Amino acid sequence: MMTMSFTSIRKILDGRFEGKQVGIRGWVYRKRESKDIIFVVVRDATGVIQCTVTRDSPAWADAEKVTIESSVTLTGTVRKDERAPGGFEVSTNQLRIVGLAEPFPITKDQSEEFRRDVRHLWLRSQRMIKIMKIRSEVLKFVHEFFRKSDFTEVSPPMFISSAVEGGATLFGVKYFDKDLYLTQSAQLHLEVLIGSLEKVYCVAPSFRAEKSRTIRHLAEYWHVEAEQAFATMDDLMRLEEDLVSYVCQKVAKQCEKELRKLKVDAKKLAEVKPPFGRITYDEAIERLHKKDFKIRWGEDFGFDEERALAKEFGKPLFVYAYPREIKAFYCKMYKENPKLVMSVDLIVPKIGELATGGSRIDDKEELIERLREFGLKEEDYDWYVDLRRYGTTPHIGFGLGVERLLAWMLDLENVMDTIPFPRTIRRFYP
Ligand code: 4AD
Ligand code: MG
Repeated sequence: MMTMSFTSIRKILDGRFEGKQVGIRGWVYRKRESKDIIFVVVRDATGVIQCTVTRDSPAWADAEKVTIESSVTLTGTVRKDERAPGGFEVSTNQLRIVGLAEPFPITKDQSEEFRRDVRHLWLRSQRMIKIMKIRSEVLKFVHEFFRKSDFTEVSPPMFISSAVEGGATLFGVKYFDKDLYLTQSAQLHLEVLIGSLEKVYCVAPSFRAEKSRTIRHLAEYWHVEAEQAFATMDDLMRLEEDLVSYVCQKVAKQCEKELRKLKVDAKKLAEVKPPFGRITYDEAIERLHKKDFKIRWGEDFGFDEERALAKEFGKPLFVYAYPREIKAFYCKMYKENPKLVMSVDLIVPKIGELATGGSRIDDKEELIERLREFGLKEEDYDWYVDLRRYGTTPHIGFGLGVERLLAWMLDLENVMDTIPFPRTIRRFYP
């Protein structure tokens, strides 16, 4: 058999092969038939192209037989044709069915629920292909940003022995004859690593046993986390806004085509720039009261409060200096007002909280006191207290959810649509 060489569809659509013979391999995306011509629209990872098969072509019999989502290889001549989507089509002279598909269960106008049930097939949709490509770019730019900023990438453990973000959302796992947990955040381990590397970051899964069904909670999500020694709250907010702006601007430029197909305005992303808004928790409460929210001082914001605040600013917004009761045990208190802690949430329109960060307690006694206050066992955190015993430094850090970032950037309804295999209380298949 003749050996074929294959070309990516993107290159054909770029016009590099006009009049030439090409080989393509991919999957049948659409098929339309009339008496003397069959249109087989083929997709590969790079694009979609219309291939025509005429009745006199040796490919006719296979073109008649081929079904949607069958895998195929074909050869043909590239022709410019204004009527073809993309401006080029391939006159096919040879078609080989690699894997003939059974009737594909996904058709037009099916519910979002159904598409999530058949996620393993829905991932082939043009929509998911675009989202997955942008997700890949977002991750690339996150790494690029930290590398440029002299952070060292580190690899934290997924099995942990002590909680970071409180017991309510911990997943327990059997670990030989012990009971351990899946990590909720790499923060405490990143704090260890700043003792040697000063500025560290990671992109890793975090696990939360979230029982409520919302548009922004997953049981397994990807977490961008960073920690930095000798840094302040101001440094922290600048770091976060620089990161988010860098990613948005890069994506606006590099993913223009995908954004257009997803009907996302690239200009809006390009306009995400520092400085973001900055208000204290106290100010946030005042603003909410003016909007008739019933929230009392000392209560945490819910989804509605966050969205209302972000909407008012129309851009990302930092809220900092929270009541100590509603934030985690490791948050450092303000000397002048110990009721408040140096914790900061980054909130954005529609999604609400995108990141949480803050200054960590660097004093040993204060940390031990807080562990007691939270009813946590000191011996479980002894290694963490050690960091305050041996050369402690003031330090900051934050964690940002990749899926929330994507859902916000791409204006998606649910974080589930930003990750290939979403895990929620009900969804763990496939
Ligand atoms: O606010 P969280 O719980 O903060 C921490 O875990 C800190 N220890 C992070 C740090 O300082 N290193 O989680 C951080 C972010 C949230 O702002 C949100 O974007 C995301 O992680 N997140 C979730 N994303 C999807 N599904 C969930 N169940 C999430 N829980 C948190
Ligand atoms: Mg938070």
